[in-house]
Amino acid sequence: MPLWQGRFQKELDQQTNDFNASISFDSRMAQQDIRGSIAHAAMLGKQGIIDKAESDLIIKTLRQIASELESGTLAIDMTAEDIHTFVEAELTKRIGDSGKRLHTARSRNDQVALDLRLYLLDETEKLEESIDRLLRVLAAKAKDTADYVMPGYTHLQRAQPITFGHHLLAYAQMLLRDRGRLRDCKARMAVSPLGSGALAGTTYPLDRDFVAAQLGLAGVSANSLDGVSDRDYVLELLSCLSILMVHLSRFAEEVILWCSWEFKFVELDDAFSTGSSIMPQKKNPDIAELVRGKSGRVFGDLMTMLTVMKGLPLAYNKDMQEDKQAVFDAVDTVLICLDTFAPMLETATVLKDNLRAAAAKGFINATDCADYLVYKGLPFRDAYKCVGQLVASCIAQNLTLETLPLAQYKAACDLFDADVFDAINLDHCVNKRIVKGAPAPQCVLAEVAALEAQI
Ligand code: ARG
Repeated sequence: MPLWQGRFQKELDQQTNDFNASISFDSRMAQQDIRGSIAHAAMLGKQGIIDKAESDLIIKTLRQIASELESGTLAIDMTAEDIHTFVEAELTKRIGDSGKRLHTARSRNDQVALDLRLYLLDETEKLEESIDRLLRVLAAKAKDTADYVMPGYTHLQRAQPITFGHHLLAYAQMLLRDRGRLRDCKARMAVSPLGSGALAGTTYPLDRDFVAAQLGLAGVSANSLDGVSDRDYVLELLSCLSILMVHLSRFAEEVILWCSWEFKFVELDDAFSTGSSIMPQKKNPDIAELVRGKSGRVFGDLMTMLTVMKGLPLAYNKDMQEDKQAVFDAVDTVLICLDTFAPMLETATVLKDNLRAAAAKGFINATDCADYLVYKGLPFRDAYKCVGQLVASCIAQNLTLETLPLAQYKAACDLFDADVFDAINLDHCVNKRIVKGAPAPQCVLAEVAALEAQI
């Protein structure tokens, strides 16, 4: 039975009914809907808008409904229009007229805005926990690999020596910012729109702050039109999640590269890899590829909501019902990506020798070689040019800076001495990089400690 009887002579066309209904996806907000209704009923009773006894009865019955839904003894009627309709109908079925009083001074427009806020606040907590879990894995792995020397890249060309732990911690920084953005976004989400009514507030003497306080929300919306039509909190959350997925996708891309025979920096555990139906030798990093691919879904969800909202006149419009599937999909996707990525990374083996072998090629100590001359007094630009010529000469002779004879160094510049070989030693090059945020093992361990303090 729809909520809007009275004015209508006919039943809703069946296909139109299905098209209009949202129960198939908003049923997951059942607990939040009931929580909101309990706070509303308590306020109605406190303000004398309904009888205190009726308010108590409504609250008691709503609690029962909530626990029966939780335990599975009560099933949601999927023919109801939406979750709000279902809860009210179930309440009225149980306590008759008292149930019908619950919706006094409320509209589904402010109700749904509240429910979605409460639901997304709960989900944001889960997202923060999943980020923390991945951060813990990163901290542990970075600690283990704090002195694993590897080439750092720019343009995907070997550039300068870093450590694997340092590389991992770059992603930890991104995830810390993601967590910070979620926290910022929660502050604006934790606002109660209840009391906005359909659009124009209400004539009843509501205590909106009481409702907000009951729900643990920081305050109430300041404008009734905005209260029912604001979905910034959805857009903000989707934006945060999109940025997070950019990070996970970049990380996934590196894992995929690292698993290739061309790199072979990392070996994924068999439990987190897949094979091929035809090529017996294959071990594929499907998890990382899916994470990379699913970033597209989340960006799509953000685009969906930006597009849904952009031309809407005030206040509520049914277009806004589209918010739920988009944001639910994004939240579900990000949670599963985080929760799968973490154990995949945790169980991966980092191949120290291969990292080292890659670091030994590609002249990643050329900058250190130039710096050696600078420490001996040569202007950097001259040192740069001299070492560039040495590299070219190494390439021509199939040598490295480590294997180039001292005589050739001296021929290029008389400031070179035998200690140049210490200066370009890879461990030495990494260990000297001790400015704040640099890749030396001691810096990595300091960064891990700072990270652990933030988890
Ligand atoms: N299912 C609706 C939604 O998700 C609830 C609000 C309905 N309001 C209305 N005026 N039809 O947006």
